[in-house]
Amino acid sequence: MWKRKDLLGLEELSKEEIELILSTAESFKEVSSREIKKVPALRGKTVVNLFYEPSTRTRVSFEVAAKRLSADVINIATETSSVKKGETLIDTGRNIEALKADVIVIRHNCSGAAAVLARNVSLNVVNAGDGWHEHPTQALLDIFTLKEKLGDIDGLNVSIVGDIAHSRVARSNIWGLTKLGAKVTICAPKMLIPAGIEETGVTVTHNIDDALKNADAINVLRMQFERDGETAFPKQLEYFKEFGITGDRLKKAKKDIIVMHPGPINRGIEMSSGVADGANSVILEQVTNGIAVRMAVLFLVTQARESNGQITD
Ligand code: CP
Repeated sequence: MWKRKDLLGLEELSKEEIELILSTAESFKEVSSREIKKVPALRGKTVVNLFYEPSTRTRVSFEVAAKRLSADVINIATETSSVKKGETLIDTGRNIEALKADVIVIRHNCSGAAAVLARNVSLNVVNAGDGWHEHPTQALLDIFTLKEKLGDIDGLNVSIVGDIAHSRVARSNIWGLTKLGAKVTICAPKMLIPAGIEETGVTVTHNIDDALKNADAINVLRMQFERDGETAFPKQLEYFKEFGITGDRLKKAKKDIIVMHPGPINRGIEMSSGVADGANSVILEQVTNGIAVRMAVLFLVTQARESNGQITD
């Protein structure tokens, strides 16, 4: 049974909690193929999307998910809100609470922002990406897609390629995949591998062919040029030559290797267009699966808050 008020990251979740989100998502997936794509599970609830950073997929996906559950949805773009007048995160959260919302979905550039908010409001808080820390629903939809394509996660070889150092997607995937028994390899230039990452149980390589050799799936990450200034990064063409996923490189991998990317893609830097749009790519299926996963998360956290005395965080 789910008991958490908030979803802040996968590091703190047990294997059973992750599996519960995935199985709940499985049951919500068919709602999106109905003629009337709606169930009443969150009727009367209000979900606020509070985004301090740009987003296309995650923000729209949370909005679609909440509306498919019959919730009302308010989107706050901080560029046009009182955040621009200096209002703090906690004050913003408490004001949203005073407006009688039920859930805040937050994206923020600071690691830990979702946890700070969760400690200071009684509303459900869902982390939609905090700094370099975690992006739990992205990893959950990645894992959901892998499960749909390949079955059991236990024993799968999954390689995560690219800008690991700045990636909340990588961190959440590593926590989630290793808890479910996958063997995770990370591959990047030395400067984009965080110190001590081996302690999470992953294998590290700097050779893309090694990362591809036995992989059942590769998750290719975006180069986050905006986070560190281009000077700290390898030159774009150099990176593509050494680490870019191309049709020729895929020929040396397993024939049915699954190619994933959280988006947005830098075509010609992380992967060629041929790979992004090719037969092995499940990139748009990931986006579709994000709706079911976010429906599951919104459903579970709101149910927990309604079950008096059973909230653990
Ligand atoms: N994958 C992802 O987080 O994309 P957005 O930044 O568009 O939400």
